Order: sequence, then structure tokens, then C-alpha cells
Amino acid sequence: MLYDVIVVGSGISGLFAALYAQRAGCSVVVITKSNPFRSNSAVASGGINAVLNTTAQDSIYRHIKDTIDGADGLSNEVNVNDMCKEGANIIAELTEMGVKFDCDDKGNIKQRPFGGASANRTCYIADKTGSAIVQSLLMQCRKEGVEILSNHQLLNITKFDDKLSGITLLHREDSHVTAFACKSLILAGGGFAGIYRGHSTNPQESSGDVIAAALRAGLKLSNLEFVQFHPTTLKNGALVSEAARGEGAYIVDEKGVRFTDELQTRDKLARAILEHILAGHKVYLDFRHLSAETIETKLPSTQKMALNSAGIDIKTELLEIAPSAHYTIGGIWTRGDTSTDLPGVFACGECATTGVHGANRLGGNSLLEGAYFGRMAGIEAARRAKKEDFLPIDFSQVNKEYRRVNLILDGESHFNINAMRKNLGESLFKNVGVYRNEPRLIDAYEYVHYLMKCQYGLHCVNKERHNNVELSAILEFRNALYIAEAMILSAMKREESRGVHYRTDFPNRNDKSYGVSSYIRNLGDGFLKISFENDTLNNFFYKVKSYFKKTLFGK
Ligand code: FUM
Repeated sequence: MLYDVIVVGSGISGLFAALYAQRAGCSVVVITKSNPFRSNSAVASGGINAVLNTTAQDSIYRHIKDTIDGADGLSNEVNVNDMCKEGANIIAELTEMGVKFDCDDKGNIKQRPFGGASANRTCYIADKTGSAIVQSLLMQCRKEGVEILSNHQLLNITKFDDKLSGITLLHREDSHVTAFACKSLILAGGGFAGIYRGHSTNPQESSGDVIAAALRAGLKLSNLEFVQFHPTTLKNGALVSEAARGEGAYIVDEKGVRFTDELQTRDKLARAILEHILAGHKVYLDFRHLSAETIETKLPSTQKMALNSAGIDIKTELLEIAPSAHYTIGGIWTRGDTSTDLPGVFACGECATTGVHGANRLGGNSLLEGAYFGRMAGIEAARRAKKEDFLPIDFSQVNKEYRRVNLILDGESHFNINAMRKNLGESLFKNVGVYRNEPRLIDAYEYVHYLMKCQYGLHCVNKERHNNVELSAILEFRNALYIAEAMILSAMKREESRGVHYRTDFPNRNDKSYGVSSYIRNLGDGFLKISFENDTLNNFFYKVKSYFKKTLFGK
């Protein structure tokens, strides 16, 4: 198959990207391995940040300042400015597509407080914002004729003469390997917090497939050490949305004592909660003082989830919580126009590092980032596709994938994939969790290397070719190990504490040595190189380039 633009991923960034590329007249396909409602966008329930009107309470400047302050000294301020300025337009665009944000009696969109925000800035649809947005975007894509191919798993990026030519895919329906050619590729396949299996708000599919494929293809990654732990999740990792605290729920211990500020940034709150738990307390969300109307109209999904998953009626009982891995801030390095260091490949959403979150993301900013950079990726990918020709697919690469898949399917299994995934999650949570230090990181590194050695003994017990979930899981697990190694190495090298990365052996922020982003490059033969570099020059050239592009082409 040939497409001008291929988009991998069907969350908010992927769907926006697809719409904008299609509107620019390109042939577009969205590839998704499972169901768009299992994307992290659909899980981000609490809301999307935007300054709708400048008032005495809020302004775009304050949104920018809060985002930069929350990022703990590491944000790309150009990108933060551009994103925050577009907030109101994005909300208007979503409304036009049919997203029904909660409104007051006069029809004004309501906004709730969120952690780290100096004003009520988070627009919402009860506590199901992300899934409502994804639903409307999917309908819009359908209306505008965007092709969506589900049940297709990205294997690798293909190159011809070191230039992008397309991708290889596993069609899960019958386990066959196929290749699609494209002129531009948009990676929007989400993050990798699902590799903290058992301690993650993400589905297990969030295994960093697109990030791993990017690293294998020679794209550089950035800031993988910054993994955000959501402060309020159930023991099984199920998310209790920040909407709960935004609507006034308290965080208390077993004595009913409120021991922390519920609306501080997530990095600080996760540490406050975990510290209290490690000191021998239990920690709960307390909704009992909220009115029945607030719970029923603003937190209906939370109420249902607490009852179904924990057997708790939040109107009358306390809901026990703890932090879990939620969002990976680092990913594929991008410029402000979403381009990566492989021409023709663009990245947006959670899999990309745009620098807007720095070392800590504010709740409600990820949906905004996804929409803003998704649109940009669609426009830029289409612009490039119009200038380029298709390149041939190197079929020896497709054949290699075919053999790899068949080997996994046909061989005799020596290990249990579920146990291995669970053990990886336990090790990462214990050693590369809210708190890290050198001995723990070494433990995790050695364990990941042990699992890497075992991975070639992993084969499918079930040999069925039709929708073989074991095959997908093994492919995901290999990606998970690759990304886990890169993440641990980055965490080892950053010998300071900043944002969500807290080293008990280096508890202070050290701007002199680490006030810059980390970068990971694949040197081949299994070697990864970690460096810390200042991106200022890159940003400067990008600004000059965008200035000329705008002046000369009016775009
Ligand atoms: O808590 C939440 O609803 C999550 C929102 C987000 O990650 O932005």
C-alpha cells in the first residue's frame, strides 16, 4: 500500500494530525494496534487546559508561567508559548466538531482547578474528557474520509539509502507481515508507562513501540528519565482522575488528617503520598463532604470505577490510593515543527519530546499538547509529502521481520510472557519509581539485561495465527526492554533531582551540570549513547526558519 502520509497512533495527536494532513489533500491512513479508546488520550479524564478569556484571574501569560514553573527549569519556552496561545482556538475547534464541554447556565464553558495551575483553567466533560474528545475526533475523521486501520502493529521504520521509505507492520488478524510505503510518517503512538505493569494507569499495550522503532531507526530520543507518577490511583493502577481533587476531594490518612496540599504539582504530591505510605500510613481520597450532585454530575466515572474496581461507595466511604506510573514525558526528540532528525518522520503526542513539559507535566496539558502538535504534524507532514516521491521498500527488511515473527510463533517456549512482563513492572516500580538511587538503578539495569537474554526463549504457546495476543505481547515486551534500558541509563546519568526524577543520592537540583535535556542515540550493535546537551542553538535556528517560512509563504 502507498500513502502520502501514514499516522501511527489514534489518540488525540494522531487523529488531529490525520485530519490536517487529509485536509491538505494527502492520502492518509491512521494505523492503530488496538482500540482508539484504549489510548492514553481516552484515559486522560480530568480535562484540557486553555485560557478562554483574559480576566483578572487568568491570562495566557499565567498559563505559560505555570507550565514553565511546573517543568522545573527544563521547558522549551518557545514551544510552551506557542502551545498556550492556541488553547482557546483548540477548544473552539473541538466544540465545532461536537465535543460538548460542560457549560454553565449562560452557555459558558466551565473550568475546574488542576494541580499547579494558578487559576481554574481546565475545560472538561465531567470526568470523561479524553474519551469524549477521542470520540468526536473519530467521528470527524470518518466524516472527512480518513482511513483508519485497526489491529495493525508497527514493527519498524524502513529506509532506502538512509531515507524514509515506509513502515513494516504486523496484521494481527492473521499474523502476516506487511509493508506500507509513505512520503511522510507521523509517529503518534503514545508513551511507555505501561511497562510498569501492575503499577500503571496505562494499558499494557503502552509499551513504547513507536519510540523503540524510532530508536532502532536511528532517531534520537530525549529525557526518558522523566516518568510521571499519578498521585491518585487504585492498588491495581486504575486512575482516579485529578478531576476528583479539582472538585474538592481531600487526601487524608487513616486518622482523617489532611497531610498535604491536594492541588500541588503531581511530582510533589506523588512524593508526599508515597512518603506517608512508607512511614506506615494508609492514604485515601475522601469525597464524603462533596454533595451528591457534584459526585453524580462531575465525577460519575470515578464513582462507577470505585464501586466496580474497589467495591467502595465514594459518597460514604474512603477510597484507598497510591501513586502509579502514568505518563512518560520523554520520547522522540522533535523540533518545534514536530520534525525529527530523520527527514520525513514527524512525532507528536506522548511519544514525542516537544519540551513543553520539561521535567514535570501539569495535569490537563497533555491533551492540549496532543491537539496543538498533532495539528502541526499533519500540516508539516503534508507539506513534505507534496514535495517528495515514494522510495522503494527494501524487501530484505520485510523478510527479516517475517522470519522474526515466524520464529516467535513457531519456536518452543521456555518462559512465561505474563510472568516476565509482571516482573519487569515490579522491578521498574521498585527501582525506577518515584524515588531512585544508584544501587536501585543498577538492580533494575541488571534485571533488564537478564530479561533481554531470556527474551529469545520466549515463543508463543498458542500457535494460532488468528489474533494471537501472545505474539503481540512478545513483540511489545521486546520493545519494552529496549526502552527500559534507555530509560534506566538516562536516570543513572542524571545525578540530580528535578521534576518527576527524584534521586535519593542526589536530592538537589543541579542546574550547572544538568540544566539541559538528556539525549539517547543508538550507536548500533546494542550500544546506546547518553549525553546532556543544550538545545538553545537548535531552537534559535528553528525560530529563524519559522520566521522566514511565515514571512515568505504566509504560513
Ligand atoms: O487525572 C487525570 O484526569 C489525568 C489527566 C492528565 O493526565 O492530563
